[in-house]
Amino acid sequence: MPTVVDRGLEGVVVGSTQLSNVEGTIGRLTYRGYDIDDLAPNATFEEIVHLLLYGHLPNRHELESLKRELGARRALPEPLINAMQSVPKTAWPMDVLRTIVSGLGLFSPVNAHGEHLSDVHTAIDLIAKMPTILAGWDRIRRDLEPVAPRTDLSQAGNFLYMRTGKVPHAIEEDALDTYLVLLADHSFNASTFAARVVASTRADIYASITAALATLQGDLHGGAASAAYRTVTEVKTPENAERYVRDILDRGQRIMGMGHREYKVRDPRARHLEAMAKELSEHVGGSPWYETAHALEEASRKVLQERKPGNTIYANVDFYTAPVLADLGVPGDEFTCLFACGRVAGWTAHVLEQLADNRLIRPQATYEGPPAGPYVPIDKRATNGVRA
Ligand code: COA
Repeated sequence: MPTVVDRGLEGVVVGSTQLSNVEGTIGRLTYRGYDIDDLAPNATFEEIVHLLLYGHLPNRHELESLKRELGARRALPEPLINAMQSVPKTAWPMDVLRTIVSGLGLFSPVNAHGEHLSDVHTAIDLIAKMPTILAGWDRIRRDLEPVAPRTDLSQAGNFLYMRTGKVPHAIEEDALDTYLVLLADHSFNASTFAARVVASTRADIYASITAALATLQGDLHGGAASAAYRTVTEVKTPENAERYVRDILDRGQRIMGMGHREYKVRDPRARHLEAMAKELSEHVGGSPWYETAHALEEASRKVLQERKPGNTIYANVDFYTAPVLADLGVPGDEFTCLFACGRVAGWTAHVLEQLADNRLIRPQATYEGPPAGPYVPIDKRATNGVRA
């Protein structure tokens, strides 16, 4: 009989992985041993996809081959584009992404037992197609025709191209590429764990990624980026930041994009995102997002320190996502979807890792309901239905 109850599984080890390592006390994140501080300025998202899925950074030939495969797999089955055309324009982008990703399973090959393949190529297929779904929905809901993907652009460049029909400026493409690199994996976070739980039942990769998308949606996980953006839009200008923070905390609420279960120092991804947010803001010219977000972080640190001396709540990855994506022209309600377009590299790699050495994930719970007793016939029950 288990005696340990940990509702949030905080500090509980539920498996092992070779994919990424989060060292929360020193603020380090590594993908297969490579520090994201090295990867963010040097590696492309495609290199990270290769690193996660194949176990090593690609040589030139391997990288070209992966890029070709990603390019070739970007286009969506026509019926799924038609399905998006018939969705109400008010639909939440994460709901559309999750539903269409689930729909992709309908178009993937099945084996003689009617099971979908879950291999490295289905993983690449999902990585290739998710940005096409998001960019397509972005245009459809604005009453515009979707722009067909290009095979010759990077994942980041092609996504921005599909949104506007224009090849993006190199600064914009680089910024989005770095964002995708930074978001690609993060050990056993809630959505990755959900994907692994589903894979452990031997459900296929489409089912696993659909579950991961559903899990990413909430405000305490991937939804925080959109919530952080709403915060920055409410603050509006740097001068309002401190008053806003005090109001939020007085009402017992949380500052979105701040705090992390694992990091007790500043999230290492925040530094790179902050630098990018600053660069993009200069590139765009006159945008308020970076300055406002920066002032909000400063105010949060100051007020939290004042109220909770020894505070360990710092900006997390979602905080500076808000100014970066806002300056790239991405609407706030699509931020979580873009997070998913990066994290799908990690999710799929985790699914394959789970399948390679699988054991059904099935924890236990302590029972706190009524003691065991006999069935009560309906005419012997109290009026409220409980045992008399
Ligand atoms: N703003 C204000 N206070 C916060 C806070 C925030 N963003 N995050 C945590 N805290 C406070 C809690 O109120 C709590 O205070 P208390 O001990 O006085 O009750 C304390 O810090 C510990 O919080 P807890 O919820 O137990 O920590 P956790 O490990 O479960 O929280 C998060 C992790 C991410 C859920 C939490 O920091 C949060 O809600 N952040 C905002 C949402 C967010 O940005 N999520 C994205 C994560 S990448």
